[in-house]
Amino acid sequence: MAWHQVSITAEKNNAPIIGDFLSDSGAVSVTFVDAKDEPIYEPKLGETKIWTQTIVIGLFELDCEPKVIKHSLYQQFSKANILHWHEEILADQIWERTWMKHYKPMKFADKLWVCPTGQAQQELGTVCLTLDPGLAFGTGTHATTALCLEWLASHDLHDKTIIDYGCGSGILAIAAILLGAKMAYAVDIDPQALIATQANAEKNAVTDKIQCMLAADFQAVPVDIVLANILAKPLIELQPQITALVKPQGSLVLSGILTEQAQEVSNTYAPEFTMQAPTIQTDWCRLEGHKLITQTPM
Ligand SMILES: C[S@@+](CC[C@H](N)C(=O)[O-])C[C@H]1O[C@@H](n2cnc3c(N)ncnc32)[C@H](O)[C@@H]1O
Repeated sequence: MAWHQVSITAEKNNAPIIGDFLSDSGAVSVTFVDAKDEPIYEPKLGETKIWTQTIVIGLFELDCEPKVIKHSLYQQFSKANILHWHEEILADQIWERTWMKHYKPMKFADKLWVCPTGQAQQELGTVCLTLDPGLAFGTGTHATTALCLEWLASHDLHDKTIIDYGCGSGILAIAAILLGAKMAYAVDIDPQALIATQANAEKNAVTDKIQCMLAADFQAVPVDIVLANILAKPLIELQPQITALVKPQGSLVLSGILTEQAQEVSNTYAPEFTMQAPTIQTDWCRLEGHKLITQTPM
């Protein structure tokens, strides 16, 4: 089925009212997207942030009249409040499959494949993780996840226990198990992430080695390796909790950090870890640290 799509660019204050207007005019969906390049990194759970200039997109059935909607919009809002109007017809597509065009098998450190369903790679000396895009973050396409997968695939994980702190889709916990880890704890503040992790663990037949936990319920047991791909600010705030999760001489892998934030995050963890120089991919970087052996007072 084809659709009419109308896109209206507006300032932050007007965007929600224009969204309501489109819903009242019969839009089957209303979406807000960034009109400039103003990334919003990780809003808090349940928080809806909006951009300084926002494009409000309404999707309408084909029998509606965009010209009537446009006329009514300009009657209700002054011209100054509507920065741009655009209308187009969206051709029919199999929407469930369109993501497939952009999501292809990816290989990390010559050892790990991450593949959509139906495109599993069977290559000697590699393992394959099956994952489809879903509601939770983490498909391997984003640099922050890719940096962690590269790390996992280039280290010996045999007999190691890991924590994937901020697990999203569970991609890091599942990859660790497929690469030989003994056990993984997948922790998140978002219940949706735990549902996604459980489903992805089932798809990859590793449920017996993965425990999904809400961060609030997680009883900290120090482990060999902690990976946390969150963002610089929460990584700094969570420093005491995350530090406590790493065994002496254990490894810490932090991601979700913009290159200009690396020094601050590194300094925050430095008192208890030997921190290495950041590994950079596009604007993002990964930090790796090794926990010092705590000195017992004489
Ligand atoms: C960028 S995603 C990373 C997902 C996945 N681990 C990956 O590498 O692709 C960050 C995840 O951290 C979770 N998160 C954010 N703040 C958190 C906190 N304070 N404690 C635990 N998880 C948190 C979010 O809900 C989200 O699922």
